[in-house]
Formats: sequence, C-alpha cells, structure tokens
Amino acid sequence: MSISVRSESPFLSTLPGRYYYDSSIYAQEQERLFSLLWVCVGRADALLATGAYQVVTVGMESVLVVRGSDGVLRAYLNVCRHRCARLCDDLCGQLKGSIQCRYHAWTYGLDGKLLGAPNMMGHEQFDRVAYGLLSVALEVWEGFIWVNLADRPAAIMEQVQGPISERFGSYEPLSNYQLALLKVGKSISYVVEANWKLIIENFLECYHCGPMHPELCHLLPGFKSGKSYVAGEAATLADGVEAFSITGKASRPPLPGLPPEDLRSYYGIVLMPNILLNFLPDHVVAHTLHPEGPTRTRVVCDWLFDPQEAARPNFDPMDVVEVFDIVNRQDWDVCQLTQQSMTSRAYRSGGVYVPAEHHIRQFCDFVLAMLD
Ligand code: FES
Ligand SMILES: [Fe+2]
Repeated sequence: MSISVRSESPFLSTLPGRYYYDSSIYAQEQERLFSLLWVCVGRADALLATGAYQVVTVGMESVLVVRGSDGVLRAYLNVCRHRCARLCDDLCGQLKGSIQCRYHAWTYGLDGKLLGAPNMMGHEQFDRVAYGLLSVALEVWEGFIWVNLADRPAAIMEQVQGPISERFGSYEPLSNYQLALLKVGKSISYVVEANWKLIIENFLECYHCGPMHPELCHLLPGFKSGKSYVAGEAATLADGVEAFSITGKASRPPLPGLPPEDLRSYYGIVLMPNILLNFLPDHVVAHTLHPEGPTRTRVVCDWLFDPQEAARPNFDPMDVVEVFDIVNRQDWDVCQLTQQSMTSRAYRSGGVYVPAEHHIRQFCDFVLAMLD
C-alpha cells in the first residue's frame, strides 16, 4: 500500500481520510505495527505491590501485566489455557497471590505457572507445565513498561534511540531528567473519539498552538508562531514566568540533575508507536495512547515528579496538572472535530500540510512502511 507524494511541492499531502476510520486499515495497523513494535503500556511505579496488575490491549491481544512476589514485572496473554476465557477483565487491580479463571477455576501463579486445575492435576497424562500462561516480552525502559508481541523482539533501545537522538541531539539531555526514578503524582484517563494517528499528528505540530492554546502560549510564547523545535532545540519559558504552572509560579524545585541550560526548557517527543513525552523543568508529562478502535483512543496522561517532592506530606501537583489538563482537552476537542470529517468527500484524497507541518509526513510514511 503506498501513497505518492509530490516532494517538489511545498505543500505535502496528508493521508487520505480512510486511514482514520477504515476498520481494515485499523486491523492492519494492529497486526503489522502494534503487534511487531515495543508498545508502551504505562509506568512501572504504578504497579509496585506484589499482585498489582494492569490489562492492556496490544494489537489484537489482551495482555496482563503483573508484579510477581519476587518483585519482577511480567506480561502474559490474558487468556486461560483451558478454554480461553479472559482471565482479568478490569483495566487494573490487585491479585491475591494467584490468578484464577472464573469459568472452571484453573489457577495460575503470578509467575504464570499452572497451580491448579480441578480434577486434572492427578491425571497421569496431564502435563501442567505445558499449560502455564503464555508469556509476552516485557521491558522497563526509563520507568515505562513496554511489551512486545513479536516472536523475537529487538532490544527496545533499537526502537527509541533514533528518535531520541534526532530530537535531543544525543541521549544525554533526556537522561538528565532521570525518568526511571520519577513517580506518578497524578494520572488522568481521557477517552478521545479520534483515531490514534490524529492525536499523534496533532502533537507533532504547533501550527495550531496560537489559535488553540492561549494558556500554553502564555507560558511558552515560542509556540505562538507555530515553530517546530528540532535537533536539541528547546522552547523556553516566558520572561517573568517561573514554572509551567497555572499561576506561572514555581512551587517545587527543578528536577535534580538538570543542567543550567535546561532550567527553563520544554522539550516534546513522540516515541512510536504510542507515547508522547513532555519535559518541563520540575516535572515530566507522559501521554500513553491506547487505541480502542478506528475512531477511538484512550489516552492516559501521567504527571511525573521527583520522588522526594512526591513523598512530601503537603505535595500537591494540581498547579501543573491544571495546565496540561486544559491543553489536553483543547487538543482532544480539535482531534474529535477533525475525526468527524474524515469520511467527507472533501478529505477523500487527503488534505495538505503547510511547510511548518512537513515533518508530520515522516510519521505518516513510517506508518505506511509498516503496513506495506
Ligand atoms: S476456561 Fe478457564 S478454567 Fe476453563
Ligand atoms: Fe495542542
């Protein structure tokens, strides 16, 4: 599947509308993109207790991520090995040391081993080792849990290194934020009635920031012009603004480890296929996208803080949560507005990217290459 792009034109074409609603294209994306790449599913520090679990849909699979009694996070297909009933049907929760299927009560340890199967365990031909839960590859990168359904996944660094070097110039500026140590101070889940690619495309451009995000532009005035920041460039807080907060005042110190040149910086980056990261001087905001269908995406927004700050008895993250919550709702509004017209004949052959949006085409070409 390919789309011709007239590269000599200063106005590159977008993808045609059907890429944002067609269920067969969505199914191809699930099979060829989300089932072959590392997919971010959330923060490791949100699953700290033994038995704490999360259920995520990745590709066409429901995946159970659970913390074992040995402290190790593991992922399994969320499917009973007897007759395939789904094991956990809540999005998250707490298991009491084992996982029991409620259909015929087969029971599995948090390490995936089959512990019990009524009237079967004593059967001499029943090999219970062969009926443990099916494992899914899991890695924790910088405190984020990633899973991969591929048979032989590459190392996760192979997936994230390129975009990080492209955005930051090298890995070092990102490592200064010590993401692995940060703690979730606030988490909000949004349901956005839009295709996951519209949300990423919207994040990739700031052409809309002037008209859509007055609060954001007040704090980061460079965004008013729609400028794109690339290769190590950061947006800078406005003169007189102390922090990226609703009042513009700072109520916590900058993250330890930040060099002087980043004490007033903002960086944004997309790590394919489904996480958007926003780096501020005293916190980091992570948006994890969970596609739920061709025209619906659940977005979990986590606000991450220095652990010492988050542990303070009077810790209150709302001064910074409020800003990005406003920005989020403005963004979801226009993504939904756009989604509504994807079936219009006006977008049958796509639209146009103005020159400041040309880098979005790279994202679309990446998606097309994965579908090919
Ligand atoms: S389907 Fe799970 S025990 Fe039968
Ligand atoms: Fe936006």
